[in-house]
Amino acid sequence: DWTTKDFIAHSVADIRAKVGKGRVLLGLSGGVDSSVAAALLHKAIGSQLTCVFVDNGLLRKGERDYVRELYGKHFNIDLRVVDASALFLKRLKGVSDPETKRKIIGRTFVEVFERTLKKIGRTAEFLGQGTLYPDVIESVSIQGNPASLIKTHHNVGGLPERMKLKLVEPLRELFKDEVRRVGEALGLPREVVWRQPFPGPGLGVRVMGDITKDKLEILRNADAVLQEEMMKSGLYWKVWQSFAVFLPVKTVGVFGDERTYDYVIALRIVESTDAMTADWAKIPHDLLQKISSRITNEVRGVSRVVLDISSKPPATIEWE
Ligand code: XMP
Repeated sequence: DWTTKDFIAHSVADIRAKVGKGRVLLGLSGGVDSSVAAALLHKAIGSQLTCVFVDNGLLRKGERDYVRELYGKHFNIDLRVVDASALFLKRLKGVSDPETKRKIIGRTFVEVFERTLKKIGRTAEFLGQGTLYPDVIESVSIQGNPASLIKTHHNVGGLPERMKLKLVEPLRELFKDEVRRVGEALGLPREVVWRQPFPGPGLGVRVMGDITKDKLEILRNADAVLQEEMMKSGLYWKVWQSFAVFLPVKTVGVFGDERTYDYVIALRIVESTDAMTADWAKIPHDLLQKISSRITNEVRGVSRVVLDISSKPPATIEWE
């Protein structure tokens, strides 16, 4: 539509005027905001944009290849994929407190990101960010209200000053639905533009308690089954979020003629409009049955699947 096209045209002109012949670095997470920011910056300045994607070892199944395929190949963006998974997992070893995990993941991300930028970005002057209007508001309310710090959300605070980078935030005046329209107009696939939110600390806050490679692998496989069935039924696009949670609790089961003693996977599927409140989604029983039976049969290490029927408040959407 006209307003979206108009926004894109103005934004492209603004970015070019601001950046000139300079170089922009952008952290790409694969989420909606950073993806649209990348597509918009790429349209404006092409090869003057370098994107950095950090693999923290806490990604969903296939995520890294998907990002490489879409941005590197399809959009032909200069994309640097940094595999820092060993470092993240080493730092997280034995840590089970949720806030401590979040802090470690956040701090390690900033460290790896900064180190990468220093290595590749000696000549860069600008840091791109997919900041939206609600993020601008929220950071104000967080400063004024300690209660909004229930969970430490993750960004690259302080880094632009330390590295003497100027910020380029082309989505700063937009709301989420406007960002999605811009993304569609720029040719991003619908799957990206309408993707469900995914937390910065990733599967790190979906493996309860301490994190190991084996637990992550089980969770990834279970989550992939859930997403596949949600996509097939079309419900993926109708709910706010649908994901699997790993519970480090062993329960008894039978598989063939064998007794098993394996872990539990919880399904968290919620409806919401802004994530401030949420209700558990009333998913048809036959679909739940299919998901449960596929997970217990196909994912090694899981003997039981449970459904989370808590609303927010008092529960939060994520389990940690
Ligand atoms: P909660 O669990 O607080 O989550 O009800 C509300 C929404 O925020 C997402 N979430 C995060 N997103 N970094 C993020 O970028 C985080 O640390 C984080 N923690 C929760 C969550 O997935 C839900 O959509």
